[in-house]
Amino acid sequence: MAKYTVITMPGDGIGNQVLPESIRVLKEVGFDAEYIHADIGWECWCNQGNALPDRTIELLTRHKLGLFGAITSKPNKEAQAELKPELRGKGYVYYSPIVTMRQRFNLDICMRPCIAFAGNPLNYIRKRADGGFDEPLVDTTVFRQGTEGMYCGVEWTNPPDNVRSALNTHPKFKAFAGIPGPELAVSLRIITKNAARRIVTAAFEYAKKRGFKGVTICEKPNVVRETSGMMEETAREVARNYPGIALWSTNIDAQLMWLNKNPEDYNVVVSSNLFGDILSDAFAGLVGGLGFAASGNIGDEVAVFEPTHGSAPKYAELNPPIVNPIAMILSAAMMLDHVGEHAKAERIRQAIAEVVREGRVRTYDMKRIPGGGKSISQGAASTIQMADAILEKLAKAVPVGAAR
Ligand code: NAI
Ligand code: MG
Repeated sequence: MAKYTVITMPGDGIGNQVLPESIRVLKEVGFDAEYIHADIGWECWCNQGNALPDRTIELLTRHKLGLFGAITSKPNKEAQAELKPELRGKGYVYYSPIVTMRQRFNLDICMRPCIAFAGNPLNYIRKRADGGFDEPLVDTTVFRQGTEGMYCGVEWTNPPDNVRSALNTHPKFKAFAGIPGPELAVSLRIITKNAARRIVTAAFEYAKKRGFKGVTICEKPNVVRETSGMMEETAREVARNYPGIALWSTNIDAQLMWLNKNPEDYNVVVSSNLFGDILSDAFAGLVGGLGFAASGNIGDEVAVFEPTHGSAPKYAELNPPIVNPIAMILSAAMMLDHVGEHAKAERIRQAIAEVVREGRVRTYDMKRIPGGGKSISQGAASTIQMADAILEKLAKAVPVGAAR
C-alpha cells in the first residue's frame, strides 16, 4: 500500500492540462502515493446543482490531502441559466467550490509563495537613476486568511426585514435607510479573533523558519476599523511571542504601491481574505504571473494545494496545451513540504530553477508572446514539453546526499 493517498481534482479547463503534469513530476521524485480522482467544478454544477459533490467531500475527509487544478466560476444569473433544465427553479444556488471547500474543511491558512527564479524573463526589474536596471529577486510569501473576511458568504441583495432592522440600529446606516431593498446589496466582512491569530501565527512561524527579520500585516485599520482593527491588534499580540521578528504594518492601498518600488523588502505578508487574494496576485505578477503562482490551503486536518490561476477557458481546448504547468508543479511541491517530504520538494524546485535559468524551454507566457493556437509555431514550449524539461532535470539530478 502506498504511504500517501492524494485526492486529485483537476476541475475545469486548464486544470485538466496541468494537474496530470504535476503527477508525472511527483512520480519522478519517488513520492509514494496513490491518486484518487474526484470531480469538482462547473460540470458538476450544471448536472447536479452542486459544484462540490458529496463524494469529493467524503474522499477529502477520509484521505486529507488534495491536489486541485482550477474551476470555472460564473455569476449567479449565468449559473442558473446553465443549470440542467430539470434542476432549474428548484432553489439551487451556485457557490464557488473552492471557497466552499476552504470553509467546509476550515482550510484557513492560505499560503501563497511568490518567489522568483533567477533568469525568468518575467521577473520584476527596476530602473535605476543612472539608467541601469536592478533585478532584485522577490521572495515574498503571502499568508491569506482563507475562510472568512469578505469571502465569508454572508450577503444579501434586498436584505430581509430583520437584517434591515438590525442595520438600521447603526448610525452610519442612516445614509442608506431610504434605499429600496432591491437596490441595496450588503456583503459582510467577518473577522474572528481565533482565525486572525491562526493566520498571523502561521506567518510568524514561517518567518522564523526562513530566518526573516519581519512580518508585514497588511490591512486598512484606519478606515475599516473593526475588522482590519482586529487583524492588526491580533498581529501585535502574536508578535510578542516572536521577539526576534519585527512586525511591520502597511495599508493595502499603500502596499500595492510599495510592492512596485521595493518588493524585496517584503518577505512575509499576512492579510485577511480579500486583501490577501489581491496581494498574492499582485506579488505573483513580480515573479512571472499566474504561470508561477502556487498555493496551499491548509487546515488542521485537511490540506489542498492548487495553482492560484483559474481555468483559463480560452486555452482549455488547445491541443497541444500551451499553458505553463509550473504553478501546478510548485503547488505539488508545497504538498510534499506539507507532509514532510522536504528533500523531494526541494529537488522539484531545483529542477524548475535549472530549466528557467537555462531558458531553452519556455511556455508562451515566458516568451512574452500572445497565447493561442499559434504560440507553439512561434517557438513556445507546450505544457507537456515544459513538464518534460523539468522531468529531464530530475532524472539527471543526483539526489542530495547520494554518492556520485
Ligand atoms: P485565469 O487565471 O483562468 O486566466 C487569466 C489569464 O491568465 C489567462 O487567460 C492566461 O492568459 C493567464 N494564465 C492563467 N493561468 C496560466 C498558466 N498556467 N500559464 C500561462 N498563462 C496563464 O483567470 P480568469 O480568466 O479571470 O478566469 C477564468 C475562470 O477561472 C473564471 O471562471 C474564474 O471564475 C475561474 N477562476 C478560478 C480560480 C480557481 O480555480 N482557483 C481562480 C481564478 C479564476
Ligand atoms: Mg485570486
